[in-house]
This record gives sequence, C-alpha cells and structure tokens, in this order.
Amino acid sequence: MASTSKAPLQTRNLPWVEKYRPQTLDDLISHQDILSTIQKFINEDRLPHLLFYGPPGTGKTSTILACAKQLYKDKEFNSMVLELNASDDRGIDVVRGPILSFASTRTIFKKGFKLVILDEADAMTQDAQNALRRVIEKFTENTRFCLICNYLSKIIPALQSRCTRFRFGPLSRDQIVPRLEYVTQQENIDISPDGMKALVTLSSGDMRKALNILQSTSMAYEKVTEDSVHTCTGHPLKSDIANILDWALNKDFTSAYKQILHLKTLKGLALQDILTEVHLLIHRVDFPPSIRIGLLIKLADIEYRLASGTSEKIQLSSMVAAFQAVRDLVVSSA
Ligand SMILES: Nc1ncnc2c1ncn2[C@@H]1O[C@H](COP(=O)(O)OP(=O)(O)O)[C@@H](O)[C@H]1O
Ligand SMILES: [Mg+2]
Repeated sequence: MASTSKAPLQTRNLPWVEKYRPQTLDDLISHQDILSTIQKFINEDRLPHLLFYGPPGTGKTSTILACAKQLYKDKEFNSMVLELNASDDRGIDVVRGPILSFASTRTIFKKGFKLVILDEADAMTQDAQNALRRVIEKFTENTRFCLICNYLSKIIPALQSRCTRFRFGPLSRDQIVPRLEYVTQQENIDISPDGMKALVTLSSGDMRKALNILQSTSMAYEKVTEDSVHTCTGHPLKSDIANILDWALNKDFTSAYKQILHLKTLKGLALQDILTEVHLLIHRVDFPPSIRIGLLIKLADIEYRLASGTSEKIQLSSMVAAFQAVRDLVVSSA
C-alpha cells in the first residue's frame, strides 16, 4: 500500500518531476481559480469530496498532496491520509479491504476528517466504483475522498455526483516557460530560446513531459537546443524535414522512397512526426492554392490511416506519391 510521507525529499538523484513538485498550493503555477476555491473550502473547514480530472502532467496529484500537507501535521500524516495510486490493485477487494478499514476506523486523537486519495481512479472496475460509492456515503462524516482521473467518462455517474468536480486543463506556454526557466537556473543549464520553444511545443501542456525532456536532454547534451531536444526525443530535425521534402519533390519515386526510409530507420523517426512537421512546412512553401489543397487533403488521409494502425511503409510510399503527383502537376502547368 502506498502511503505518502511528508519527510523532506532527498533532492539529489531525484527525477526533476519529483524534485520540483510543488509543495504547497501557492507553488502551483496554473488553475488559480481551482486552487483558490479549494483554499476557501479548507479555510472554512468544509472540504467536499473531490474529483480532479484532465490530461496528465497538469498538477492533479500535486494539488491534492499540497492540500494534505496543509491539512495535516507531519506526525499525523500517515494515520490521516491514505493514498492509493496506479501501482495498487483496483478491484473491489481494495474497496472492501484497505479503504473500508481506513475509513471506518475512528480518529481518536484528532477531530476532523481523514483523507483518502484515489489516484488514477479511472482504472477502477465498475464493481469497485459501486462499492466505493457506498463507502463514501457511509463514512462522509469523518472521511473525505479525492478521486483523480484522466477521463471523467470512466467514473460512474453515481460517484461523479457525490464529488465536486474540477477540470485541470493543459498548461499554457506562459505558465510552462517561467517554471522551466526557474529549473534551468537552479540546475545551471545552458538553454537556447529555440530549445525552450521546442520543449513547450513537444510537451503540449504536460509539465511532467516538459521536465522529463529537459532533464534527459541536458544530461545527454551540453546545450539544450531545438536540435538536441528533437534528437533526444526521436523527433525529426528541421534539416531532416527539409531533406525529406527535397527528396520527395526532386528525386524519382524509388530513390526518394529509399532515402526517406533509410533516414527514418537510421534515426528511429515515426512517420506520424514526419507528417506533422512536413504539414507545417507545406503551409510555408509557395504552392499554387489548388495544388496545396490537394496535398493537404492527401496528408490528412495518410494521418488518419496511420492512426488506425496501418503499415508505415505503405503510408510512407503514399506520402512520397502525393508529392510526386504535385511535382508532375506543377511541371505540366508550367
Ligand atoms: N500546475 C503545476 N504547477 C507546477 N508544476 C506542475 C504543475 N503541474 C504539473 N507540474 C509538474 O509536473 C509533475 C507532475 O505533476 P502531477 O501533479 O503529478 O500531474 P498529474 O497528477 O496531473 O498527472 C509535478 O511533479 C510538477 O513538477
Ligand atoms: Mg497524477
């Protein structure tokens, strides 16, 4: 059973997502409206059952842990807080066993409620959720529950309606950048502006991802730049994309296909990522409008097929073919 201790973190050798995990509600860099609402609940001593949902790396776990630290002193923490996360079992037995026994034990020394944190609650079976509903009902007097999940739809309505819901949206660039700047300062990291931009783009609002990429790139390279970030994450470089476009438009089909495939295999690139970058570039290349439209439609079709798990090689040849068709059109209309 995972229980959270409030002991000071051993900061050396710790992954940065833990080292820089916000310790108090004030440390969190986003969702100010949610945080002030929760702070108000705590101040007025009327915390409801909570349900946090939203994409990964947006501060759901950090928020409830910060609340718990504010609510309970060091020595009572372990007896007052039960934290279950992804590594714990999610069947009905957990609800009937550890959760029930934790919730039903009276707190002798302290008045006030205990806290049960159910991280990644969307992994709970329907049966377990139904059983949990009854436990929540029965022990509301001395226990508060906080359910955390990525997908709200996986939580049964009966549980949803017993909790106050908060959606944690992806973090914005303006929120991510200052935090990353703080970490790079603390860690003495040399980072270029385009490196910072690449971090923000690739993490798409997921602060955990941003920190993880920053840490691994800075460990592998002296300087964090767009190229080192892309290389570290296996994302195509600008020069790769320029080459791919050049081959597809200027070489014959067989050599274009072979060269792209070679590059792709050599660097372990995903066709999905190539497609995304090529697509961005097409918006900047000066194609006649009708030709550009045709090309974009074809690329979108390829993306759709890729998403359903089709062969990357066949889709790659389809991509090369789309560019060759464009070239033939441009040549014949000139
Ligand atoms: N709102 C935020 N403010 C500051 N750091 C954040 C925030 N959200 C995420 N992080 C960083 O990302 C890591 C993962 O956050 P976490 O709260 O576990 O996300 P979630 O539970 O939503 O997946 C944290 O350790 C922290 O370093
Ligand atoms: Mg979490």
